[in-house]
Amino acid sequence: MNTKWITSLFVCLLFACTPKKQSVKDSPTKKQTLDMNSNTLKKKRFDTILQGKPVKLFWLENGDIKMAMTNYGGRIVGLYVPDKKGDLIDVNIGYGSIKTYLEADETYFGATIGRVGNRIAKGKFTLNGTEFSVPTNNNGNALHGGYKGFQSVVWEAQQPNKYTLILQYTSPDMEEGFPGNLKTKVTYSLTSENAVRIQYKASTDKPTLVNLTNHAYFNLNGEGSGTILNHKMQLFAEAFTPVDAGLIPTGELRPVSGTPFDFTQPRTIGERVEADNEQLHFGGGYDHNYVLGAKQEKSMNHAAKVVGDISKITMNVYTKEPGVQFYGGNFMGSKNTLKSGAKDDARTAFCLETQHFPDAPNQPNFPSIQLNPGETYTTSSEYHFSVE
Ligand code: GAL
Repeated sequence: MNTKWITSLFVCLLFACTPKKQSVKDSPTKKQTLDMNSNTLKKKRFDTILQGKPVKLFWLENGDIKMAMTNYGGRIVGLYVPDKKGDLIDVNIGYGSIKTYLEADETYFGATIGRVGNRIAKGKFTLNGTEFSVPTNNNGNALHGGYKGFQSVVWEAQQPNKYTLILQYTSPDMEEGFPGNLKTKVTYSLTSENAVRIQYKASTDKPTLVNLTNHAYFNLNGEGSGTILNHKMQLFAEAFTPVDAGLIPTGELRPVSGTPFDFTQPRTIGERVEADNEQLHFGGGYDHNYVLGAKQEKSMNHAAKVVGDISKITMNVYTKEPGVQFYGGNFMGSKNTLKSGAKDDARTAFCLETQHFPDAPNQPNFPSIQLNPGETYTTSSEYHFSVE
C-alpha cells in the first residue's frame, strides 16, 4: 500500500466519523432564528449623534420575547416573538437605520407620539379662554403633535436592566405651538408574561394638551410577509367615533352593530374593508377611533385581540385609555424599504394606538386631554403575545 492511498483512506474515515455540523437553515433554534432576524438591525446603523445628543440601538429581553428600540423618536424598531413552531418572528414594521428613519416618507413607524396623538381640527383649540393655533400638517388639520412631534426628537435614555428602557423628553413651552414646558417620561418594558408594557407620565407648568401613544405598526405573520387582511381581529368596543372627509370626528359615538366596524366577534380585517360604506371611504379603509370599556381585564380596558393567520401569533391589547385608533395601513404607499428589504405596501401592517379620542379639545362630549400645572398625567398600555 502506498502512503498516498493510506492518507486518503484516513481522511475519508475522518470525514465519515465527524458528525455533520448543522447549518442554521437545517433546524433553527429560537436563538438562531433571532440572530438571523437581528442581522438586519446593526448597532452601527443606529449609533450616532442627532440634535447634539447621542442616539443608540437598545435591546430589551424578557420571557420569550426581545425588542429593539432607538431613542430617536422613542421608537420600537423590531419586536421578536415566538410563533407556533417556536421560531422568533419580527412582528414590528420598521427601518434598518437611523438614516432611513430620517429620510423616509413615513416617520411614525414604532414611535412614541406626542404631545397630542391623532388630529386637532384646523389646528385650533382654546384653553381657559385663550385660543391657540398649532401647525396644520395633515390636510388642514394638526396630526400627531405637528411637524416636530415626539417621533422626531431625541429622547434621553436609560436602561436600568435588560428588560426596561426609560425615555425622557422635555418639550419646551410653545414647541409646535403648544403651551407649557411638558416634562415627559415613557417607560418601555418587557414583562415575564411576554408583554410590552408602556407607562406614560407627564407634567406641565402651564395648562396644555397631552395625548400620548405609541405608533407601532404590526404584522403578526412577520414584517414583509404580505398584507394583514387575513389577520383575525376582535375589538372590544360597542361604538366608534365616525369622522368627516378630513378624518375629524363628528362628535357622535356610533354603535358598531350592523356595520363593517363591528369586530365584537372575531372577523378578518379584510372581510369588509372594501364595503360600500361612507366611513370606510373617508378612511380609505379602517382609520377610526373605537370607544373602549366593553370589556375589562387586568384592571384595564381589553382593547383588542388579533391573530396572525400564518404564524398564529396572538396579540392582546390592554389599556387605561378610553379609546384605540384602529388604523389598517391604508396610506402605506410602497415608497419605503423596510429592514427586511420588503416595501411598505398598502395594508401590510396595522396599528392599534391607545389614546383619548381624536380632536378631544374641540369635542365637548369627549374625555378631556387638558393637563394643568400641579397635575400628573399617567397612563399605560400593554401588548401581550402568545400563540393560538
Ligand atoms: C394614524 C392616523 C392615520 C395616518 C397614520 C400615519 O394614527 O389615524 O390617518 O395619519 O397615523 O400615517
